[in-house]
Amino acid sequence: MNSLLQRYTAGMARYVATAAEAPLLDIEELGRLAITDDISLDEIAGLHEGAALALTDQGVPINEPEIIRRMSACLSALMVSAAVAYRTKIDLLEQHRQEERDRTERDRQRLETLGQFVGSVAHELNNLLQPVRGMTEIMVADLAEQRPPERADLEVIEGCAIQAVSVIQGILGYVRRETIAPQRLAFGAAVATACTFIRPMLREPFEVAIRDRDSEVLARQGELTQILLNLLQNAVQAGATHIRVEVDRIGGDWRGGGQPPRMRLRVTDNGQGMSAAVAARALDPYFTTKASGQGTGLGLAIVRSIVLGWSGDLELESEPERGTTLTLLLPVAIG
Ligand SMILES: Nc1ncnc2c1ncn2[C@@H]1O[C@H](COP(=O)(O)OP(=O)(O)OP(=O)(O)O)[C@@H](O)[C@H]1O
Ligand SMILES: [Mg+2]
Repeated sequence: MNSLLQRYTAGMARYVATAAEAPLLDIEELGRLAITDDISLDEIAGLHEGAALALTDQGVPINEPEIIRRMSACLSALMVSAAVAYRTKIDLLEQHRQEERDRTERDRQRLETLGQFVGSVAHELNNLLQPVRGMTEIMVADLAEQRPPERADLEVIEGCAIQAVSVIQGILGYVRRETIAPQRLAFGAAVATACTFIRPMLREPFEVAIRDRDSEVLARQGELTQILLNLLQNAVQAGATHIRVEVDRIGGDWRGGGQPPRMRLRVTDNGQGMSAAVAARALDPYFTTKASGQGTGLGLAIVRSIVLGWSGDLELESEPERGTTLTLLLPVAIG
Protein backbone atom coordinates (compact mmCIF):
# COMPACT_ATOMS: atom_id res chain seq x y z
CA MET A 1 0.00 0.00 0.00
CA ASN A 2 2.80 2.38 0.98
CA SER A 3 4.74 1.68 -2.17
CA LEU A 4 1.54 2.24 -4.17
CA LEU A 5 1.10 5.59 -2.41
CA GLN A 6 4.71 6.50 -3.18
CA ARG A 7 4.34 5.54 -6.83
CA TYR A 8 1.04 7.39 -7.18
CA THR A 9 2.48 10.48 -5.49
CA ALA A 10 5.51 10.37 -7.78
CA GLY A 11 3.32 9.91 -10.86
CA MET A 12 1.01 12.72 -9.85
CA ALA A 13 3.96 15.05 -9.10
CA ARG A 14 5.35 14.34 -12.58
CA TYR A 15 2.04 14.91 -14.29
CA VAL A 16 1.27 18.06 -12.32
CA ALA A 17 4.70 19.39 -13.33
CA THR A 18 4.73 18.32 -17.00
CA ALA A 19 1.16 17.34 -18.14
CA ALA A 20 2.94 14.62 -20.18
CA GLU A 21 1.23 11.34 -21.12
CA ALA A 22 3.82 8.94 -19.59
CA PRO A 23 3.00 9.58 -15.89
CA LEU A 24 -0.72 9.10 -16.62
CA LEU A 25 0.05 5.73 -18.23
CA ASP A 26 2.07 4.81 -15.11
CA ILE A 27 -0.90 5.75 -12.93
CA GLU A 28 -3.25 3.59 -15.04
CA GLU A 29 -0.85 0.68 -14.59
CA LEU A 30 -0.94 1.37 -10.84
CA GLY A 31 -4.76 1.11 -10.81
CA ARG A 32 -4.58 -2.33 -12.47
CA LEU A 33 -1.84 -3.45 -10.09
CA ALA A 34 -3.85 -2.41 -7.03
CA ILE A 35 -6.77 -4.61 -8.18
CA THR A 36 -4.42 -7.56 -8.78
CA ASP A 37 -3.16 -7.03 -5.21
CA ASP A 38 -6.76 -7.24 -3.95
CA ILE A 39 -6.88 -3.62 -2.75
CA SER A 40 -10.45 -2.32 -2.48
CA LEU A 41 -11.76 0.50 -4.70
CA ASP A 42 -12.24 2.68 -1.55
CA GLU A 43 -8.64 2.21 -0.51
CA ILE A 44 -7.49 3.01 -4.04
CA ALA A 45 -9.51 6.24 -3.99
CA GLY A 46 -7.87 6.97 -0.61
CA LEU A 47 -4.45 7.02 -2.33
CA HIS A 48 -5.41 10.32 -3.93
CA GLU A 49 -5.84 12.10 -0.60
CA GLY A 50 -2.49 10.80 0.64
CA ALA A 51 -0.80 11.97 -2.57
CA ALA A 52 -2.44 15.42 -2.38
CA LEU A 53 -1.12 15.85 1.20
CA ALA A 54 2.36 14.78 0.11
CA LEU A 55 2.29 17.34 -2.76
CA THR A 56 1.21 20.07 -0.30
CA ASP A 57 4.18 19.12 1.91
CA GLN A 58 6.41 19.48 -1.16
CA GLY A 59 5.04 23.02 -1.60
CA VAL A 60 2.90 22.38 -4.68
CA PRO A 61 0.05 24.96 -4.83
CA ILE A 62 -2.73 22.36 -5.03
CA ASN A 63 -5.52 24.96 -5.01
CA GLU A 64 -4.55 26.52 -8.33
CA PRO A 65 -7.13 25.73 -11.02
CA GLU A 66 -4.65 24.16 -13.48
CA ILE A 67 -3.13 22.01 -10.71
CA ILE A 68 -6.61 20.96 -9.57
CA ARG A 69 -7.40 19.95 -13.17
CA ARG A 70 -4.20 17.90 -13.53
CA MET A 71 -4.71 16.20 -10.14
CA SER A 72 -8.26 15.20 -11.12
CA ALA A 73 -6.92 13.78 -14.41
CA CYS A 74 -4.60 11.61 -12.26
CA LEU A 75 -7.50 10.52 -10.07
CA SER A 76 -9.67 9.57 -13.02
CA ALA A 77 -6.78 7.68 -14.70
CA LEU A 78 -6.30 5.73 -11.45
CA MET A 79 -9.99 5.02 -10.82
CA VAL A 80 -11.01 4.23 -14.41
CA SER A 81 -8.18 1.72 -14.86
CA ALA A 82 -8.92 0.20 -11.43
CA ALA A 83 -12.65 -0.07 -12.23
CA VAL A 84 -11.98 -1.72 -15.62
CA ALA A 85 -9.54 -4.16 -14.00
CA TYR A 86 -12.08 -4.85 -11.25
CA ARG A 87 -14.82 -5.61 -13.80
CA THR A 88 -12.50 -7.92 -15.72
CA LYS A 89 -11.55 -9.68 -12.52
CA ILE A 90 -15.22 -10.16 -11.54
CA ASP A 91 -16.03 -11.43 -15.07
CA LEU A 92 -13.15 -13.91 -14.94
CA LEU A 93 -14.22 -15.03 -11.49
CA GLU A 94 -17.80 -15.50 -12.69
CA GLN A 95 -16.61 -17.35 -15.79
CA HIS A 96 -14.49 -19.59 -13.58
CA ARG A 97 -17.45 -20.25 -11.26
CA GLN A 98 -19.67 -21.00 -14.27
CA GLU A 99 -17.10 -23.46 -15.61
CA GLU A 100 -16.96 -25.07 -12.18
CA ARG A 101 -20.78 -25.31 -12.09
CA ASP A 102 -20.85 -26.78 -15.64
CA ARG A 103 -18.24 -29.35 -14.67
CA THR A 104 -20.19 -30.35 -11.54
CA GLU A 105 -23.38 -30.61 -13.59
CA ARG A 106 -21.64 -32.77 -16.22
CA ASP A 107 -20.25 -35.03 -13.46
CA ARG A 108 -23.69 -35.27 -11.89
CA GLN A 109 -25.31 -36.19 -15.22
CA ARG A 110 -22.59 -38.74 -15.93
CA LEU A 111 -23.12 -40.35 -12.53
CA GLU A 112 -26.88 -40.32 -12.99
CA THR A 113 -26.60 -41.99 -16.41
CA LEU A 114 -24.20 -44.54 -14.97
CA GLY A 115 -26.55 -45.17 -12.03
CA GLN A 116 -29.49 -45.71 -14.40
CA PHE A 117 -27.39 -47.93 -16.59
CA VAL A 118 -26.23 -50.09 -13.68
CA GLY A 119 -29.81 -50.18 -12.38
CA SER A 120 -31.19 -51.29 -15.73
CA VAL A 121 -28.56 -54.01 -16.13
CA ALA A 122 -29.37 -55.32 -12.64
CA HIS A 123 -33.08 -55.18 -13.52
CA GLU A 124 -32.67 -57.17 -16.74
CA LEU A 125 -30.33 -59.78 -15.23
CA ASN A 126 -32.70 -60.17 -12.29
CA ASN A 127 -35.60 -60.79 -14.73
CA LEU A 128 -33.58 -63.64 -16.21
CA LEU A 129 -32.31 -65.09 -12.93
CA GLN A 130 -35.81 -65.52 -11.49
CA PRO A 131 -36.83 -68.28 -13.95
CA VAL A 132 -33.36 -69.89 -13.70
CA ARG A 133 -33.88 -70.13 -9.96
CA GLY A 134 -37.45 -71.44 -10.31
CA MET A 135 -36.51 -74.08 -12.86
CA THR A 136 -33.46 -75.16 -10.88
CA GLU A 137 -35.59 -75.64 -7.76
CA ILE A 138 -38.04 -77.79 -9.77
CA MET A 139 -35.18 -79.87 -11.18
CA VAL A 140 -33.59 -80.37 -7.76
CA ALA A 141 -36.99 -81.50 -6.43
CA ASP A 142 -37.33 -83.89 -9.42
CA LEU A 143 -33.93 -85.38 -8.70
CA ALA A 144 -34.73 -85.75 -4.99
CA GLU A 145 -37.67 -87.89 -6.04
CA GLN A 146 -35.55 -89.93 -8.48
CA ARG A 147 -37.23 -88.25 -11.50
CA PRO A 148 -35.05 -87.05 -14.35
CA PRO A 149 -35.21 -83.27 -14.82
CA GLU A 150 -37.52 -82.13 -17.63
CA ARG A 151 -35.85 -81.13 -20.87
CA ALA A 152 -38.15 -78.09 -21.19
CA ASP A 153 -36.99 -76.77 -17.78
CA LEU A 154 -33.38 -77.10 -18.87
CA GLU A 155 -34.21 -75.28 -22.10
CA VAL A 156 -35.61 -72.34 -20.12
CA ILE A 157 -32.35 -72.12 -18.19
CA GLU A 158 -30.35 -72.31 -21.40
CA GLY A 159 -32.56 -69.64 -23.01
CA CYS A 160 -32.11 -67.33 -20.01
CA ALA A 161 -28.33 -67.80 -20.15
CA ILE A 162 -28.32 -66.92 -23.87
CA GLN A 163 -30.48 -63.86 -23.22
CA ALA A 164 -28.21 -62.83 -20.30
CA VAL A 165 -25.20 -63.05 -22.63
CA SER A 166 -26.95 -60.63 -24.97
CA VAL A 167 -27.60 -58.22 -22.05
CA ILE A 168 -23.91 -58.50 -21.09
CA GLN A 169 -22.80 -57.89 -24.69
CA GLY A 170 -24.80 -54.69 -24.50
CA ILE A 171 -22.89 -53.67 -21.35
CA LEU A 172 -19.52 -54.52 -22.88
CA GLY A 173 -20.42 -52.52 -25.98
CA TYR A 174 -21.31 -49.57 -23.76
CA VAL A 175 -18.07 -49.89 -21.77
CA ARG A 176 -16.06 -50.00 -25.00
CA ARG A 177 -18.11 -47.03 -26.22
CA GLU A 178 -19.28 -49.00 -29.25
CA THR A 179 -22.69 -48.33 -30.65
CA ILE A 180 -24.19 -51.66 -31.52
CA ALA A 181 -26.07 -51.07 -34.74
CA PRO A 182 -29.56 -52.58 -34.98
CA GLN A 183 -29.96 -55.39 -37.52
CA ARG A 184 -32.61 -56.12 -40.13
CA LEU A 185 -35.10 -58.38 -38.45
CA ALA A 186 -38.27 -59.97 -39.80
CA PHE A 187 -40.29 -58.39 -37.04
CA GLY A 188 -43.31 -60.69 -36.75
CA ALA A 189 -41.10 -63.78 -36.76
CA ALA A 190 -38.77 -62.22 -34.18
CA VAL A 191 -41.72 -61.45 -31.87
CA ALA A 192 -42.89 -65.07 -32.24
CA THR A 193 -39.42 -66.35 -31.29
CA ALA A 194 -39.29 -64.07 -28.23
CA CYS A 195 -42.78 -65.22 -27.15
CA THR A 196 -41.78 -68.89 -27.42
CA PHE A 197 -38.82 -68.14 -25.19
CA ILE A 198 -40.85 -66.19 -22.63
CA ARG A 199 -43.92 -68.43 -22.45
CA PRO A 200 -42.52 -70.97 -19.93
CA MET A 201 -41.15 -68.15 -17.76
CA LEU A 202 -44.54 -66.54 -17.03
CA ARG A 203 -47.16 -67.88 -14.69
CA GLU A 204 -50.03 -66.71 -16.95
CA PRO A 205 -50.59 -67.90 -20.53
CA PHE A 206 -50.85 -65.31 -23.31
CA GLU A 207 -52.18 -65.27 -26.87
CA VAL A 208 -50.02 -64.38 -29.83
CA ALA A 209 -51.43 -63.11 -33.13
CA ILE A 210 -48.84 -62.35 -35.78
CA ARG A 211 -50.50 -60.85 -38.87
CA ASP A 212 -47.27 -60.03 -40.68
CA ARG A 213 -44.25 -62.26 -40.19
CA ASP A 214 -41.89 -61.01 -42.87
CA SER A 215 -41.73 -57.22 -42.94
CA GLU A 216 -38.35 -56.13 -41.71
CA VAL A 217 -37.38 -53.48 -39.16
CA LEU A 218 -34.04 -52.33 -37.74
CA ALA A 219 -33.90 -53.82 -34.24
CA ARG A 220 -32.16 -56.50 -32.19
CA GLN A 221 -33.60 -59.87 -31.20
CA GLY A 222 -32.09 -59.82 -27.67
CA GLU A 223 -33.53 -56.40 -26.89
CA LEU A 224 -36.89 -57.30 -28.43
CA THR A 225 -37.05 -60.23 -26.00
CA GLN A 226 -36.19 -57.83 -23.14
CA ILE A 227 -39.06 -55.55 -24.22
CA LEU A 228 -41.62 -58.33 -24.39
CA LEU A 229 -40.48 -59.87 -21.12
CA ASN A 230 -40.94 -56.51 -19.34
CA LEU A 231 -44.35 -55.82 -20.91
CA LEU A 232 -45.67 -59.32 -20.26
CA GLN A 233 -44.38 -59.37 -16.69
CA ASN A 234 -46.11 -56.04 -16.03
CA ALA A 235 -49.36 -57.45 -17.44
CA VAL A 236 -49.14 -60.52 -15.18
CA GLN A 237 -48.25 -58.35 -12.19
CA ALA A 238 -51.31 -56.16 -12.94
CA GLY A 239 -53.46 -59.24 -12.30
CA ALA A 240 -54.45 -59.78 -15.95
CA THR A 241 -56.24 -63.00 -16.83
CA HIS A 242 -56.20 -62.29 -20.53
CA ILE A 243 -53.04 -61.11 -22.27
CA ARG A 244 -52.57 -60.73 -25.99
CA VAL A 245 -49.53 -59.97 -28.14
CA GLU A 246 -50.35 -58.74 -31.64
CA VAL A 247 -48.18 -57.76 -34.58
CA ASP A 248 -49.41 -56.07 -37.75
CA ARG A 249 -48.22 -53.68 -40.41
CA ILE A 250 -49.86 -50.27 -40.72
CA GLY A 251 -49.60 -47.21 -42.98
CA GLY A 252 -47.80 -47.15 -46.29
CA ASP A 253 -50.99 -46.85 -48.38
CA TRP A 254 -53.92 -44.50 -48.79
CA ARG A 255 -55.75 -46.18 -45.90
CA GLY A 256 -52.86 -45.25 -43.61
CA GLY A 257 -53.47 -41.55 -44.34
CA GLY A 258 -50.19 -41.27 -46.25
CA GLN A 259 -48.11 -42.41 -43.25
CA PRO A 260 -44.93 -44.40 -43.99
CA PRO A 261 -45.27 -48.14 -43.33
CA ARG A 262 -44.70 -49.16 -39.75
CA MET A 263 -44.77 -52.38 -37.79
CA ARG A 264 -47.04 -52.27 -34.79
CA LEU A 265 -46.64 -54.49 -31.73
CA ARG A 266 -49.39 -54.33 -29.15
CA VAL A 267 -49.42 -55.98 -25.74
CA THR A 268 -52.93 -55.77 -24.31
CA ASP A 269 -54.08 -56.97 -20.93
CA ASN A 270 -57.30 -56.88 -18.91
CA GLY A 271 -55.50 -56.20 -15.63
CA GLN A 272 -56.08 -53.45 -13.09
CA GLY A 273 -55.09 -50.66 -15.50
CA MET A 274 -53.68 -47.31 -14.45
CA SER A 275 -55.13 -44.02 -13.26
CA ALA A 276 -54.35 -41.02 -15.47
CA ALA A 277 -51.74 -39.89 -12.90
CA VAL A 278 -49.95 -43.28 -12.95
CA ALA A 279 -50.14 -43.54 -16.75
CA ALA A 280 -48.57 -40.07 -17.08
CA ARG A 281 -45.50 -41.20 -15.15
CA ALA A 282 -45.34 -44.94 -15.94
CA LEU A 283 -42.51 -44.53 -18.47
CA ASP A 284 -40.32 -42.44 -16.14
CA PRO A 285 -37.25 -44.17 -14.72
CA TYR A 286 -37.74 -45.31 -11.10
CA PHE A 287 -41.49 -44.68 -11.12
CA THR A 288 -43.25 -47.64 -9.56
CA THR A 289 -46.49 -48.26 -7.69
CA LYS A 290 -45.17 -51.52 -6.32
CA ALA A 291 -44.30 -51.96 -2.66
CA SER A 292 -40.73 -51.07 -1.79
CA GLY A 293 -38.34 -53.86 -2.64
CA GLN A 294 -40.77 -55.28 -5.23
CA GLY A 295 -40.18 -53.17 -8.30
CA THR A 296 -37.48 -50.80 -9.48
CA GLY A 297 -39.69 -48.81 -11.85
CA LEU A 298 -37.10 -49.31 -14.59
CA GLY A 299 -38.99 -51.83 -16.75
CA LEU A 300 -40.91 -49.39 -18.96
CA ALA A 301 -38.06 -46.85 -18.96
CA ILE A 302 -35.79 -49.53 -20.41
CA VAL A 303 -38.44 -50.46 -22.98
CA ARG A 304 -38.79 -46.83 -24.00
CA SER A 305 -35.06 -46.23 -24.31
CA ILE A 306 -34.62 -49.32 -26.52
CA VAL A 307 -37.55 -48.30 -28.73
CA LEU A 308 -36.26 -44.73 -29.11
CA GLY A 309 -32.83 -46.18 -30.01
CA TRP A 310 -34.54 -47.95 -32.94
CA SER A 311 -36.22 -44.67 -34.01
CA GLY A 312 -39.58 -46.04 -32.94
CA ASP A 313 -42.43 -44.81 -30.76
CA LEU A 314 -44.01 -46.22 -27.64
CA GLU A 315 -47.61 -45.42 -26.75
CA LEU A 316 -49.56 -46.30 -23.66
CA GLU A 317 -53.32 -46.50 -23.20
CA SER A 318 -54.84 -47.57 -19.94
CA GLU A 319 -58.05 -47.35 -17.98
CA PRO A 320 -58.48 -48.28 -14.34
CA GLU A 321 -60.15 -51.70 -13.93
CA ARG A 322 -60.28 -52.13 -17.74
CA GLY A 323 -56.71 -52.90 -18.67
CA THR A 324 -53.70 -51.59 -20.51
CA THR A 325 -52.28 -51.59 -24.02
CA LEU A 326 -48.70 -50.76 -24.82
CA THR A 327 -48.07 -50.10 -28.49
CA LEU A 328 -44.69 -50.11 -30.10
CA LEU A 329 -44.34 -48.62 -33.60
CA LEU A 330 -41.25 -49.19 -35.71
CA PRO A 331 -40.49 -47.93 -39.22
CA VAL A 332 -40.41 -50.73 -41.79
CA ALA A 333 -36.88 -51.09 -43.21
CA ILE A 334 -37.18 -50.31 -46.91
CA GLY A 335 -34.94 -51.50 -49.74
N1 LIG B 1 -49.70 -53.57 -17.72
C1 LIG B 1 -49.81 -52.73 -16.70
N2 LIG B 1 -50.98 -52.61 -16.01
C2 LIG B 1 -51.11 -51.75 -14.98
N3 LIG B 1 -50.11 -50.95 -14.55
C3 LIG B 1 -48.94 -51.03 -15.18
C4 LIG B 1 -48.71 -51.91 -16.27
N4 LIG B 1 -47.44 -51.75 -16.71
C5 LIG B 1 -46.88 -50.82 -15.91
N5 LIG B 1 -47.77 -50.39 -14.98
C6 LIG B 1 -47.55 -49.32 -13.98
O1 LIG B 1 -46.39 -48.61 -14.33
C7 LIG B 1 -45.43 -48.67 -13.27
C8 LIG B 1 -44.02 -48.70 -13.86
O2 LIG B 1 -43.80 -49.93 -14.56
P1 LIG B 1 -42.30 -50.44 -14.76
O3 LIG B 1 -42.34 -51.72 -15.50
O4 LIG B 1 -41.50 -49.33 -15.31
O5 LIG B 1 -41.78 -50.67 -13.27
P2 LIG B 1 -42.29 -51.75 -12.24
O6 LIG B 1 -43.01 -52.83 -12.95
O7 LIG B 1 -43.02 -51.02 -11.16
O8 LIG B 1 -40.92 -52.29 -11.64
P3 LIG B 1 -40.05 -53.47 -12.28
O9 LIG B 1 -40.23 -53.37 -13.75
O10 LIG B 1 -38.69 -53.20 -11.81
O11 LIG B 1 -40.62 -54.73 -11.72
C9 LIG B 1 -45.79 -49.91 -12.47
O12 LIG B 1 -45.37 -49.80 -11.12
C10 LIG B 1 -47.32 -49.89 -12.60
O13 LIG B 1 -47.91 -49.00 -11.69
MG1 LIG C 1 -42.11 -53.74 -14.73
